[in-house]
Amino acid sequence: MDQHELNNLKRWFTDYCRSFYSSDYDDQRNITLKEEHTRNVSGNIVQIARGLSLDDARITLAEAIALYHDIGRFPQYRKFKTFKDSVSVNHGALGAKVLVENTVLQRLPKREQDIIVRTVALHNAYSIPSRLDRDMLLFLKLVRDADKLDIWRVAIEYYGQPEGGRASAVGLELPDLPGYSPEVLTALKNEKMVQISTLKTLNDFKLLQLAWIYDLNFASSLRILESRQYIDGIAATLPRTGEISEALATLRGYVDKGLQGT
Ligand SMILES: [Fe+2]
Repeated sequence: MDQHELNNLKRWFTDYCRSFYSSDYDDQRNITLKEEHTRNVSGNIVQIARGLSLDDARITLAEAIALYHDIGRFPQYRKFKTFKDSVSVNHGALGAKVLVENTVLQRLPKREQDIIVRTVALHNAYSIPSRLDRDMLLFLKLVRDADKLDIWRVAIEYYGQPEGGRASAVGLELPDLPGYSPEVLTALKNEKMVQISTLKTLNDFKLLQLAWIYDLNFASSLRILESRQYIDGIAATLPRTGEISEALATLRGYVDKGLQGT
């Protein structure tokens, strides 16, 4: 894909977003949040892809995937007023449907269309499915890392705001109580990902978000994570208990190991 084609796709994205703008303050804020998230995920994916020395055509394709990865969020929010997939719709699958139904990608080679549609559909899957071909796997890994790197930014901003000032759909409507669930902490300590269905409090969600670090695919993503100090940013908002410190130490050890020799 070349830059000219990418610019066309960007124009379509801008128009599509505008069609969801609302005069309601909270609704508009949730929409703007996703628009900004998309811009940042695009920046992240280019940074990671450059770190892997991909050629220009691939970097542009990666950027197109980032541009559309959350396109399903807009109709999801309009219809259900939430970003919680479990009570509404799988926003990855919905995004793929939006792209196909609106024939957004029709000018691209079939192979590129396939890669974009499938990576959008799978970007939010709990884990990467087996038996994807090499390219599909590469682009899926790229978008999943770029996405997480920006979700940490959004989350830290959100946790830093007083409860009333927060964009409503970010925290999955979990209660901001002082406690956390032992099984979520155990997963983090054991370098395991956490199932979203096990969450009870906002602290659980923070621990789940930290466990995403185990799912990062590239050392260049870990480098970005470190340079932006996202672990510290989330850790600062968690209760200061011994077991949380312990889990954080495991997590930091994991990151250090991944960065060794890079
Ligand atoms: Fe997403």
